[in-house]
Amino acid sequence: MNYNFDILPNRRGTGSVKWEFIFEGDLFTQTDRTDEKYGDEQLLPLWVADMDFRSPPAVIEALTERAKHGIFGYTAATDSYYTAVTNWMQRRYNWRVEREWILQTPGVVPAISLLIQTFVTPGEKVLIQRPVYYPFMNAIKNNGAEIVSNSLRYENGRYRMDFDDLAAKTADPAVKLAILCSPHNPVSRVWTREELVRFGEICLQNNVLVISDEIHCDLIFNSAEFTAFATISDEFAQNSVICTAPSKTFNLAGLKTSNIIIPNPALRAPFAARLEATGIHGLNCFGAVAIQAAYNEGEEWLAAMLAYVEANYHFMVDYLAEYLPQVTVVPLEGTYLAWCDFRSVGLSPAKRKKLIMEKANVYLDEGEMFGPEGEGFERINLACPRSILAEALERICMAMKE
Ligand SMILES: Cc1ncc(COP(=O)(O)O)c(C=O)c1O
Repeated sequence: MNYNFDILPNRRGTGSVKWEFIFEGDLFTQTDRTDEKYGDEQLLPLWVADMDFRSPPAVIEALTERAKHGIFGYTAATDSYYTAVTNWMQRRYNWRVEREWILQTPGVVPAISLLIQTFVTPGEKVLIQRPVYYPFMNAIKNNGAEIVSNSLRYENGRYRMDFDDLAAKTADPAVKLAILCSPHNPVSRVWTREELVRFGEICLQNNVLVISDEIHCDLIFNSAEFTAFATISDEFAQNSVICTAPSKTFNLAGLKTSNIIIPNPALRAPFAARLEATGIHGLNCFGAVAIQAAYNEGEEWLAAMLAYVEANYHFMVDYLAEYLPQVTVVPLEGTYLAWCDFRSVGLSPAKRKKLIMEKANVYLDEGEMFGPEGEGFERINLACPRSILAEALERICMAMKE
């Protein structure tokens, strides 16, 4: 089948966070169309991680059929739901997941908060690898724990983990949990098996439980290879909680349906109890349908979408090399989010933001959001029609030149 990713669906009027809101001071504020500064007729949004592509046709058809049924009562995961999830993991990652390992939550971010509540006492510490997806930091702080950063190192144009620092920081008995972002948002690394082995072994040696957030695992580019953390060894599987969802892969984030996979029953039971205590059970009836259609019938669409986004990345690299060579793009391995180094442009974070947002009228996620290690960088969402990307780049280049 042919899929046309060049079409821009009008997302305004759907409550789209990306197109109708801005995120400032930890709040989402609806943009005022008449506001000269942020009027959303002008602002091109390449920030939050969702795609401007319609989901696979099979998903849209399945949801349409479900809507036509007309009754939207309480829903739980069925045999066919579990089969769709476990087959996907087996087929794509050679990971044999047992259905009883899977618990559903309304998103990965709430799961991370609940995992912190389950396994960390206020005052204890959670390790992350900044620059990293900023809600990790909020989840840690909001649940009374302390952030410890085993910051990534950026050397010779590539990010890598600092294992000596990881060993030193996990040796602190107050560090109970480490959140691995795999693939890593925003630096786009797909961790190699060797890197994951070293990370996992250091955590095991220091009795640190690993949360592996694998929400971006299906979004792999330029011949990178994803390794599911729990497939490395049974010891790793028993010392980890794996967060998965089809929401990034098939653009289903608004359906709020994620699968948290916990092979170890001694870890699963307290988390299940925490879910129960919070009153979270059952499934969004549309999320249940969409996951099955996506995992069972969405693979061809996914391959086409990845090829389109990879071409967007190459387009952007070439464009910047020609018109704004001071900006370099970190190689895209995983996630559809490009991490761009603006440090040579020589602007302060505030000036850069003002220029990009108010002069170019392009909305990006500034690197500083991901921790101080992100200073001088911008994250650009490549999952949009090429015409939008081209327009955004042109506006940014013009504004920088002026
Ligand atoms: C690493 C990572 N985890 C989780 C999420 C969001 O998860 P959810 O929408 O399921 O809460 C994102 C979204 O960008 C992400 O990048």
